Amino acid sequence: MDTDPGIDDAAAMTMAINSPELDVKLITAVAGNVTVDKTTANVLKIVHFFGKDKEIPVAEGAKAPLIKHFEDAARIHGESGMEGYDFGTDYGKPINKTAVEALHDAIMAEDSVVLVPTGSYTNIALLFKEYPEVKSHISKIVAMGGSISGGNMTSAAEFNVFTDPHAAEIMYKSGVPIVTVGLDVTLKALLTNDSLNKLKDMNETGKMLYGLISHYNDMSGGANGRPMHDVNTIFYLLHPEAFTTKKMWIDIQTDGPAIGCMVGDIRGAYHDGKTNAEVCVDIDADFFNKWFVDQVSKMK
Ligand code: BDR
Ligand code: CA
Repeated sequence: MDTDPGIDDAAAMTMAINSPELDVKLITAVAGNVTVDKTTANVLKIVHFFGKDKEIPVAEGAKAPLIKHFEDAARIHGESGMEGYDFGTDYGKPINKTAVEALHDAIMAEDSVVLVPTGSYTNIALLFKEYPEVKSHISKIVAMGGSISGGNMTSAAEFNVFTDPHAAEIMYKSGVPIVTVGLDVTLKALLTNDSLNKLKDMNETGKMLYGLISHYNDMSGGANGRPMHDVNTIFYLLHPEAFTTKKMWIDIQTDGPAIGCMVGDIRGAYHDGKTNAEVCVDIDADFFNKWFVDQVSKMK
């Protein structure tokens, strides 16, 4: 996973770490929702919360986008990036490698891995530029970000792609199969207030997530609940049948007023039917809520 926690990133890591079907090899941090020192600390807090300090290495990544000026989203996630729960000060340290080095080593050690970026794609772009040989060891990228139906930063751009559009362009042109988990589905699968309330007294994890999500200021889906954007990547990995997808060619706008816009060639008209991504266009929101609450009920 490559992530910028971020409250929904924290929930995504929680789901991934606690899913026996998945084997989380490495978590790298990138600047995004808050600065990279904070996102790295936040990854370490979640890993420590679940007692996985020895099993899951954490590496610090890029401090800023490739070209664009860095802007955080602390207004949504709070000053630390994970406000709403006190994780204390006793948690581990990042390993002595950059995110790019750590990703290279972890990927080359396996025949095949799935890459799950839930922040901007700066680390991924740097990795592909420096070590293109990793591409043949990545079966697919399941990436939260973008949208073919409007943005949440501007009317055209979603936050992760807006934060580093040049990195997004490199990732989408990399030739590695990509599943796009964007606002097209994440704004449909709101975690309802009813589901959130069930977490409150469920167990330690439920209490932690209830605290974080109650402080999560993303009401872009309306008053009935909050979008759990990044969690949908893990939901997709475990339950692809809950999604409707459409293959298309994705281009990224890297300048001008629509900077960060993801343009999907939905009719195959502009790219002669060639595709570079499988875009999630619909989701079973009721199943998402049931799955989320059930998963947490099985945790510590
Ligand atoms: C994305 O932006 C971030 O604030 C969230 O963590 C998510 O990755 C949603 O647009
Ligand atoms: Ca994120």
